Amino acid sequence: MIRIEDLWLSFGAQQVLRGVSLEVAPKSITVLAGESGSGKSTILRLLMGFLRADSGLITIDGRNVTDLTERQWVEIRSQMGMVFQSSALFDSLTVCQNVGFYPHFVERKPWSKVRAEVMELLEELDLEMHANKMPGELSGGMQRRVALARSLIYRPKILLYDEPTTGLDPTMIQIVNELILEMREKYDVTSVVVTHDMECIYQVADHVVLLVGGEATTIGPPRNLLISDEPAVIEFTRAWREQLQNLKQQLTGVAGLDPGARGESNG
Ligand SMILES: Nc1ncnc2c1ncn2[C@@H]1O[C@H](COP(=O)(O)OP(=O)(O)OP(=O)(O)O)[C@@H](O)[C@H]1O
Ligand SMILES: [Mg+2]
Repeated sequence: MIRIEDLWLSFGAQQVLRGVSLEVAPKSITVLAGESGSGKSTILRLLMGFLRADSGLITIDGRNVTDLTERQWVEIRSQMGMVFQSSALFDSLTVCQNVGFYPHFVERKPWSKVRAEVMELLEELDLEMHANKMPGELSGGMQRRVALARSLIYRPKILLYDEPTTGLDPTMIQIVNELILEMREKYDVTSVVVTHDMECIYQVADHVVLLVGGEATTIGPPRNLLISDEPAVIEFTRAWREQLQNLKQQLTGVAGLDPGARGESNG
């Protein structure tokens, strides 16, 4: 469980967070949505301990992490993985070396030990046949899988994704959305996904939190986004609502077909 209570943060004169409170239930997939510049990545950085808030409280699994030392953060971070949109692989290293990069090349753990852990993980993710390939030999979807494997090597309990589908084509977006769901099914991780992609929100979110004006609004399940009459939510979903409205009008226009007026019930 991640709990944020009344978090305030400014960069110089710019007040970015104005009393943000939100909760992420264990093993849930919580989407953090909001306009560009609303502070989504900032919240992820606070959760990883890369930034300190001016005031407020963050607890992770009941532990207050607000005032930890850097050394204590290293321990907390070992239970967390962060996936960026641009989680690029090292082109000149094999898949296996990429996944074992941090434990071996950064932490200097012996390769024999790291390799065994990497191979176990690659097997779990059906990537073992690619272990000795170079990233350039893999499809885009496979590369994403390998990038995720790299985040999973420490067996994190929490995965934070910052715009994992931004800039990808529809096929890749689908692959990444499925990966996010698969990570939860397989590893019971708690996930926070920052995205503005409605498709991603609808496919993966159990729970949506919308950031507006430095405050967080708890939306609940994604369907609430389109039925809420809160002005901030309406503003955020305006384009989607218009699209839906157009679609409805077009359908009504086709041979007098009115999807809502045929006396059919979906239960
Ligand atoms: N290190 C920093 N120093 C100064 N200002 C910062 C810093 N980091 C973020 N900001 C500012 O804080 C605000 C929130 O930034 P943040 O990156 O969290 O937004 P975001 O919601 O992730 O946006 P996007 O959707 O574009 O990624 C922005 O106005 C940004 O310019
Ligand atoms: Mg961001």
